[in-house]
Amino acid sequence: MRERLRFIETYREDLTLADGQLIRLRLLCPSDKACMISAFAELSAQSRHKRFFSAKDSLSHDELRYFTEMDGYDHFALAAVEIDKNGNEGRGLGVTRCIRLVDDIECAEVAITVIDRMQGHGIGRILLERLVDAARERGIARFRFECLAHNLEIQGLISKVCRIVDTHFDGEVRIVETDLPNTEADPPQHAPEALFNLYTLIQALTIQSIDMQMDMGRATLNQTIGATRQSVGLMSSLKGTLPFQP
Ligand SMILES: CC(C)(COP(=O)(O)OP(=O)(O)OC[C@H]1O[C@@H](n2cnc3c(N)ncnc32)[C@H](O)[C@@H]1OP(=O)(O)O)[C@@H](O)C(=O)NCCC(=O)NCCS
Repeated sequence: MRERLRFIETYREDLTLADGQLIRLRLLCPSDKACMISAFAELSAQSRHKRFFSAKDSLSHDELRYFTEMDGYDHFALAAVEIDKNGNEGRGLGVTRCIRLVDDIECAEVAITVIDRMQGHGIGRILLERLVDAARERGIARFRFECLAHNLEIQGLISKVCRIVDTHFDGEVRIVETDLPNTEADPPQHAPEALFNLYTLIQALTIQSIDMQMDMGRATLNQTIGATRQSVGLMSSLKGTLPFQP
């Protein structure tokens, strides 16, 4: 079973972000302790608080071991590191992990952090999408996120990648439970609302046009058939860009 997994020690994926930054995705490993200390040093107090829910100056020896020495199955972590054009690795940029719940083995708790200077560049989304794929390989069907109520960044990211099925509060911590999308089969949910509205408008106009044709004589029919054809053509051209099947 494990030998058929894609996300194992040999997994490497090199990508170019929209801003031109080259990054590598790979498993986080025990030799990443120094890299993790440097990345932690780059985190602002706010980001540390959002990740650990308290002020945190450093990672203890035990925490470093826990965060870098996983079994790769029940506790799994992916790293994003910068690379140069020759593929040499530089600083750590982000990490995400999932830890299977002991009493609910199809559910895993997720944590994710991107260093401040690289936030908003798409790394969090890429990491979480790959984590979904890796988790599915390991028989995980649901994710559980714990986040501070004011942490809009993570809540935005979760809703972009996963399907939220429940949210509730435990004190000031918001628990978000999600299903895992099948990232290969499910279309991405990122069509702008305006595009959806445009599609709805065209659909309504087309139906109205057909209704009118039924009420009209042959002379006006030809005019409205032209308008209908235009609407249908526009709908077809939108089809590939919509997050649903028209
Ligand atoms: C949450 C976090 C991992 C997001 O990573 P990121 O690389 O900045 O996210 P991305 O650039 O990939 O953005 C993906 C989506 O997240 C959401 N998002 C990101 N930054 C956001 C912001 N400032 N406000 C609202 N939503 C935001 C958006 O939905 C965004 O999609 P879009 O770009 O299509 O609008 C990052 O902000 C972080 O490390 N925060 C500190 C630690 C933390 O809060 N961890 C979560 C608790 S476990």
